[in-house]
Amino acid sequence: MRLFLFLLGVNRVESSVRFITFAPSGTRCRIMEGDTVFMAAKRCGVKVDAACFGSRCCGRCKVRIRKAGLPDRHARDEKTFLSPLDRRERTALSRREILEGWRLACMAQPLTDVLVEVPALPKVQLIPTASGKKMPVFECNHAGSEEIPPFVIRKFGASYWDAYQLAPLMSAASALIADSCGDPVCKLPFCVTIEAGAFGAEIRFPEQGHLPLPGKYLFAAAEELVNLPDIDFSAGRIHEVLESVRLLHEVGRRIVLKVEAPFTVLSMLMDTAVLFRALRRQRHLVEAALTKIRRNLVRYIALAFANGADIISYADPSGVIEFIGPKTFCEVSGRETVCLLHEVENLRPGGIVHICGKTSTSLEYMGLCHFDTCVLPGRRNFADALLAIHDRNKVQFTGHNCILVTAAPMLRPEICFLHL
Ligand code: FES
Repeated sequence: MRLFLFLLGVNRVESSVRFITFAPSGTRCRIMEGDTVFMAAKRCGVKVDAACFGSRCCGRCKVRIRKAGLPDRHARDEKTFLSPLDRRERTALSRREILEGWRLACMAQPLTDVLVEVPALPKVQLIPTASGKKMPVFECNHAGSEEIPPFVIRKFGASYWDAYQLAPLMSAASALIADSCGDPVCKLPFCVTIEAGAFGAEIRFPEQGHLPLPGKYLFAAAEELVNLPDIDFSAGRIHEVLESVRLLHEVGRRIVLKVEAPFTVLSMLMDTAVLFRALRRQRHLVEAALTKIRRNLVRYIALAFANGADIISYADPSGVIEFIGPKTFCEVSGRETVCLLHEVENLRPGGIVHICGKTSTSLEYMGLCHFDTCVLPGRRNFADALLAIHDRNKVQFTGHNCILVTAAPMLRPEICFLHL
C-alpha cells in the first residue's frame, strides 16, 4: 500500500512538471511556478526581442505559442494551455496576430507543456552620417498599435469613431489607457492624421478596429501647393485634441501630445512620387508649403503648451535618413525640423519637446544638432524621468528614446538633451 501511495505521489509530481520548448533553437526547459514565457526564455538563454526588459511596455516580445504536440490550427484553443489574453496584449497585437496564436512573451503564462516560436532578432541596419562613418539606425519599438483598444470603447459604450473625434471621450480614453498600463502620462491623439486632416486632407474612417487613414490626396500636382490653407484651430478634430489636452490638464493629468513633422504632414497631402518629383524640379513650391506647414505646427504646439500639455512628442517618420537619404534629409526634412525647433524654443509656457529616436539620431548623424546626457538619481521609468526635468518656464529638447515606452523602467535613468 505504502509503495502504491509513493508511486501515486511520484505520479502527481510528475504530472505537474511542465516544459517549454523554443523553436527554432529546440531549447527545452522546465516551467517554474508563475513563469511567463519571457522569464523561462531568459532563464534558459533564449533571446526574445524586447525593449522594456519584460516590463510589459514595449510590445516587442511577440512570440507564437501552441500546446506542445498539437498542430498550428489549435492555436485558438489557447484557453486550455495559456493564461488569458491581457488587455495590454489586446492593444499590442492585431486581431490577425491573436487568431494566429501570437502573444506577448512577458505576459503569457503557460499552463501546460508549450512550444514557442521565437522570431529572429531584427538585424541592425547601418546608415551613412555626415562624417562618412556608418551608424546603427535607431530601433523603433513598434509597441503595437496606437489605436484605441476595444476594451476602452466598450467601457464607455461609445461609437468607435466618437472616441477619435470628440474631446470628452478622447480624453477619458487616453486616461484609461494610461491607467491600464501604469503609465504616468496620458498620450494623445490616437492616430497620425490630425494635422493633415486640419489642412483639409480627406481622412477615411475604415471599419471599426482600424486606424483613420488619409484618403484621396489633397494635391495632385506641386502647382496646387500654393492653395494650402492655414489651420483653423477652433474647429474639427484638431480643436477636439486641444480640448482633450485642456480637460486632462484640468483634472491634474500629465499629458503627451504627439505631433507630426512638416515633411510627414506634406507626404499625407500629396502622393510621395509627386512630392519627390517636385523636390527635384519645383523645389521652391515644396519649400514654401513646408514653411507654411511648419508655422502652423508651431502654433499648434504653442496652443498645446498653453492648454497644459507637458510633453510634445515630435516625429518625422516619412522624413528620416533611411527613408529619404542623407542629402534630402539635410536639405529638406531635417532642415525643416531644425527651423521648427528654433521657433518652438522661445514659446512660453513651455515644456518638453521629445524628438522621436529615429528623427533625433538622423539629426545627430548629419551634424544638425548635438546631444548631451544627464543621468537622474533613483529608479525611474521614462515618463518619470521626463517629468522630473519638466519646467513650464522653458522649452527643453530631448531625444534618442521612444515615447511609446514611457511606462518602462529604465535600467539607467538617462535623458538625452538635444542642443541646436
Ligand atoms: S518585453 Fe514584453 S512588452 Fe516589452
